[in-house]
Amino acid sequence: MEPGRRALESAVGPVPHEQDAIRRIEDACQVPTYAKWPIALVRGEGCWVWDAAGTRYLDLYGGHAVALTGHCHPRVVDAIRAQAGRLLFFSNVVYSDVRAAAVEALASIAPEGLRRVFLCNSGSEANETALKIARKHTGRMRVVSMREGFHGRTLGALAATGIPSYRDAAYPLPTQHTYIPYGDEAALEEALADDVAAVLLEPIPSMGGIHVAEPAYFQALRRGCDAHGALLIFDEVQTGFGRTGTMWFGEHVGVTPDLITGAKGIASGVPAGVTFVREDLAAAVQVGEQGTTFGGGPLASAAIAATVRCLVDEGLPGNAATVGARLTTALEAIKGVVRVQGRGLLLGIDLDRPAKPVVKALFDGGVLTGTGGNPNQVRLLPPLTLSEEEALGWLPLLERTLAAPGG
Ligand SMILES: Cc1ncc(COP(=O)(O)O)c(C=O)c1O
Repeated sequence: MEPGRRALESAVGPVPHEQDAIRRIEDACQVPTYAKWPIALVRGEGCWVWDAAGTRYLDLYGGHAVALTGHCHPRVVDAIRAQAGRLLFFSNVVYSDVRAAAVEALASIAPEGLRRVFLCNSGSEANETALKIARKHTGRMRVVSMREGFHGRTLGALAATGIPSYRDAAYPLPTQHTYIPYGDEAALEEALADDVAAVLLEPIPSMGGIHVAEPAYFQALRRGCDAHGALLIFDEVQTGFGRTGTMWFGEHVGVTPDLITGAKGIASGVPAGVTFVREDLAAAVQVGEQGTTFGGGPLASAAIAATVRCLVDEGLPGNAATVGARLTTALEAIKGVVRVQGRGLLLGIDLDRPAKPVVKALFDGGVLTGTGGNPNQVRLLPPLTLSEEEALGWLPLLERTLAAPGG
């Protein structure tokens, strides 16, 4: 038995071992909201995960973009272990040494002018916070967001989510939203007016199908928001913290938004979210206006501080840029690949056929990838620690899959 499980069982009692038993119990006890791969993962290291039957998978999905520093990065694990033995939790009514370390680390990587942070627990909550700040600052209600955008499942974040299939079950939604096609300057110009509190967008839509607008679009966004007194919010839950090859997407296009939201890999797997706030907006927030019990808790803070250290010390944004570019070139040489969209290690592989059967064949071959709003696109969101060898090593499997009859 692996030592980790022995230690776990000595604390919590027996946990199920067999893959089928694990699946049966979860299916019987959970609200059936997730379509799951038919495996139970029990261990992870770097870009690799192992299921309960001992099969190893290359994780190009990054636990849904969360395993930013790879699975169980030793520095992050050490930080969590050390903090768990000191103080598991106390809320924001007291100061905390490890929270101080986390917010200082976040401020050190934030874009100039956005060095105030609000810590929370998820991407949805980070977006709700940004929207609340925008509504209060402008005194306006209307928010412009993108048809392809995804911003979370809470009612406010869902209202900003343009992809209809996510919103359908929750109508009517509470806030006034205008949805426009991403990248369309004319639609943006038409939607912007003096009653708009904010424009909220993923700089690269991910769930809605990965594609990247021209730099001029982002410059038009900035100009348009300024002209109408609206705030510009970048949801960098997927694109942030180095995934696109720079710490923040705005660096690619020379645009700084007024607020940035982050979550996913910010704590390498411990639940955490953050809203980076322009300093004058932060100064106007009153005591009691925002709050959340667990935000900035000691365990999450330790994981955030360690994650930021890994990103900076190991040059992970630079690795994402280099490995992502190399992988893109290699993918585009494969028959059946039409083109690769995205940046860094947020990549959409556009195929000449539906992506789902290809994703299934890759899974059967031991490689985890994903799909999204574009039915012909395979999505990759791997750890930023991905080596060139790992990035290229699975391509013969993809090539064989695309060459197979009916593949
Ligand atoms: C771009 C984006 N924003 C927000 C969210 C919501 O984050 P969470 O699930 O942590 O609430 C997600 C989740 O997938 C996301 O991809």
